[in-house]
Amino acid sequence: MKIAIHINGGRPDSWLAALPEALRAAGLGADVSVWAPGDAQADFAISWSPSPAFMAEQAAGLQALFSVGAGVDHILGVPGLPDSLPIIRVEDAGMGAQMAHYVSWAALRHLYGFDTLQAAQRERRWTSRLFAEADRCTVGVLGMGVLGEQVAATLDGLGFAVRGFSRSARDPQAYIPGVQHMDASHGLDAFLDGLNMLVLLAPLTRETQDLITLAVLRRTARPSYLINVARGALVVDSDLLAALDEGTLAGATLDVFRTEPLPESHPFWTHPKITVTPHISAKTVVSTSATQIAGKIAALTRGEAVSGVVDRSRGY
Ligand code: NAP
Ligand code: GLV
Repeated sequence: MKIAIHINGGRPDSWLAALPEALRAAGLGADVSVWAPGDAQADFAISWSPSPAFMAEQAAGLQALFSVGAGVDHILGVPGLPDSLPIIRVEDAGMGAQMAHYVSWAALRHLYGFDTLQAAQRERRWTSRLFAEADRCTVGVLGMGVLGEQVAATLDGLGFAVRGFSRSARDPQAYIPGVQHMDASHGLDAFLDGLNMLVLLAPLTRETQDLITLAVLRRTARPSYLINVARGALVVDSDLLAALDEGTLAGATLDVFRTEPLPESHPFWTHPKITVTPHISAKTVVSTSATQIAGKIAALTRGEAVSGVVDRSRGY
């Protein structure tokens, strides 16, 4: 079996180190190498943002293409992707805990006004603030998948009032205790209504691209707070700036952007109400992800079905 690693624009070293051992542990012998143009056909590939040249040479002969991330938008738009090629993503493998920590940090920081306290410290000013009440702060998580559900459960554990929104329905009797779930049948407006914080954790698809407009943000409680850890293109940048300027939003913590790295000239860098982090809210943990991918390759070679296969019609 031949496995190609193709981390376009990134470093393949850690995958090259982890994958052969993970495959051995799954009972598979394989030739694992970093793809170079002209290489022999691989059976499976592991990739981030595959190049059109890789697609042209390898895609048609692959049994499956694994995304090294949870998202797959970096694969779906690449020219030359065959309709029939299964794309399989990383499911959690350590990302959920990181995401829950990041969102909790951003939410608590805003709730307790730690920015204001830091500014006061810089001026040696002793300032007392009202005690913040998490249970009076309703946080909405848009995208209650593998990561969103862990974020919602963690926020619930911290005492926030938590609401989640997905495309499809959940059984309220068997759902995360304390978390209210809504779906398309309730409508997005019902989910947004009265939210003090909005967390974006839905994939970038035809449906979610440019979903977060000024009109959408105005449906939340005024002023609310935005945390985007999904993809930059869910949000209309100019509408986010307008929402901050008119007081619809008190602030935003943004980990993802339409163009990454965020261009030096972008207004988000210097906006006083925006916190920018460089797409670090949940990094792929290579060791556990390699184990997960190796397990799925072993299952596929036995003819078994695996989870995490992208539904092309939905786009995630
Ligand atoms: P997932 O398990 O596929 O969950 C996606 C969730 O979004 C599902 O609950 C899905 O609804 C919901 N959804 C899809 N389309 C929607 C729509 N139009 N409106 C409302 N909800 C919608 O994905 P995941 O593993 O949780 O990851 C989510 C995203 O996080 C990834 O796609 C990626 O973009 C982002 N991410 C970012 C980082 C980072 O470092 N910033 C790291 C990892 C992942 P259903 O449950 O009904 O299907
Ligand atoms: C990171 O953004 C991922 O999709 O895993």
